[in-house]
Amino acid sequence: MCGIVGYIGAQEATPIILDGLKRLEYRGYDSAGVCTLDAGRAKVRRSEGKLFNLERLVAAQPLLGRIGIGHTRWATHGRPSEINAHPHQAGSVIVVHNGIIENYLELRERLRGTGREFLSETDTEVISHLIDEKYGACGDFERATRQALAELRGAYAVCVLCEKEPGVLIAAKQGSPMVVGLGTGEFFVASDIPAILSHTREMVFLDDGEMVVFRDGTPSFSRVSGEPLEKASRHIDWSPLMAEKGGYKHFMLKEIFEQPRAVRDTIAGRLREEQGDVYLEDLKLTDEELRGIDRICIIACGTSWHAALVGKFLLEEHCRLPVEVDIASEFRYRNPVVNDRTLMVLISQSGETADTLAAMREGKARGARNIAICNVVDSSIAREAAGVVYTHAGPEIGVASTKAFVTQLVALYLFTIRLGRALGTLDQAKGRAMIGELVKIPALLEKTLEMNDTVEKVARRYMNARDFLYLGRGVCYPIALEGALKLKEISYIHAEGYPAGEMKHGPIALIDENMPVVVLVPKNSTYEKVLSNMEEVIARGGRVIAICSSGDDGVSQKAEETLEVPSDGEELATILLSVPLQLLAYHVAVLKGTDVDQPRNLAKSVTVE
Ligand code: G6P
Repeated sequence: MCGIVGYIGAQEATPIILDGLKRLEYRGYDSAGVCTLDAGRAKVRRSEGKLFNLERLVAAQPLLGRIGIGHTRWATHGRPSEINAHPHQAGSVIVVHNGIIENYLELRERLRGTGREFLSETDTEVISHLIDEKYGACGDFERATRQALAELRGAYAVCVLCEKEPGVLIAAKQGSPMVVGLGTGEFFVASDIPAILSHTREMVFLDDGEMVVFRDGTPSFSRVSGEPLEKASRHIDWSPLMAEKGGYKHFMLKEIFEQPRAVRDTIAGRLREEQGDVYLEDLKLTDEELRGIDRICIIACGTSWHAALVGKFLLEEHCRLPVEVDIASEFRYRNPVVNDRTLMVLISQSGETADTLAAMREGKARGARNIAICNVVDSSIAREAAGVVYTHAGPEIGVASTKAFVTQLVALYLFTIRLGRALGTLDQAKGRAMIGELVKIPALLEKTLEMNDTVEKVARRYMNARDFLYLGRGVCYPIALEGALKLKEISYIHAEGYPAGEMKHGPIALIDENMPVVVLVPKNSTYEKVLSNMEEVIARGGRVIAICSSGDDGVSQKAEETLEVPSDGEELATILLSVPLQLLAYHVAVLKGTDVDQPRNLAKSVTVE
């Protein structure tokens, strides 16, 4: 999510670091910082907002030094501000970090107990304190870093400097990417290839649990635990634009493929598996307050509204409270019935959608409580909401929402467990079982993504259709709506999502041999019913593209095309079923030659009514 750049060599470090950070601008960020070591003293400049602010600051107060680290932040813990911007210094140790440290609260408590003072709200600051503490005990920067990293739980890519050993730069990774660029007598580290591609194309990719120490003009690679490693370099011949997209042709495809990682980040640090509960750090509602709720109103627009519809199923099923779902622009101009026992849940990727924000204010004025499910930290909706469940999907650049949607589903699932446990409608065993299903999702998503080439072939066969129909029942109905929306948004083909059981009340009249019908038919409680609806389509000559559970021969024998997802579950299968629909829309659009990442007339964030 954040960007890291580090440099050690014979040139001035600051221009190289700033240039690298600039090349990561497409990730979007809210603050940035840089640190160099100049004659053994750390010089740090940080600023809120775009990189431009940091550049101005550095121009006014230049930073000299041939070793340095820089960072662009996309807030996960703590709002975007100068104080929370990286690098973070504690004693003589300076750190930049990507990822989420799951045990930072307990580490911070322990470190505070030894008299250490924390200045920011970030999880990163514990890393600098921890290394500084170890350095105080052993007087060896490398050893102190290894000892500190061994105590961290969660994901990190870190770059570390130490004033006491000013010729040494250390980088390490666990879960978040880190690449090392090999120059002639100079070395670069970065979270992403494009940051350093203009300096070198010889790169070494660190794997999880690995570390590199640059000292006396040589890098030495090792495991964080200490064993030395031989690492081979790779020659990267990507163009700069390809590099921004991580080698993918479009941001949308990159973001589709990022979904396993995005889901891992959404659940990181939040599961209390033993207790069958979850911890939502910014929810700010006590169990007692949650028990005071007698109704839930979920409000959103676009794709987020589709997530809201899935949320209704989850919350009604497990929390046994009535849940109403509203489109924000409709809610705000009605005379809605909400009161102080109503919980409004606002879902918004950007946190800036004007109608959703206005609906939130409208509900608040009527006394309703609220929480937001947001991706962008400290966005308007996140700031104004009483509590927030952040989705941690990372910046989404493609206008058609993909990873933000699936992480919204995960956030709703997490909130359902939390609420159900607070209300007592979910017992510990059920909570544990739900968590058990959730942790399988990232790996199942990886498996589902293997169908990419098959979906491309399907897309080729149907790309010239004029209309598409998408059918699903129950929790799959919103997924059908989302599939149709994805196709419309980026390929400009007319598509409609419909509840499968409602098809015979109208859309069935449209079905003929020219109409592809995408049917969501996983093996769940409405399987038989959807199967009959599929038969009805086939009987009228419709061309069925079935999305079903793996190994369902019954479906594959009947449908013209079958795309199988590795799950027959009920609720979380929605996440896996979304993947073939995203890929289908993507490939049809690419084949038709539309502007996939910036489709005509659409905006990523709709900040006007
Ligand atoms: C726009 C975007 C959609 C998004 C919707 C709601 O229409 O193009 O992808 O779903 O806004 O945005 P939000 O940021 O509130 O989720």
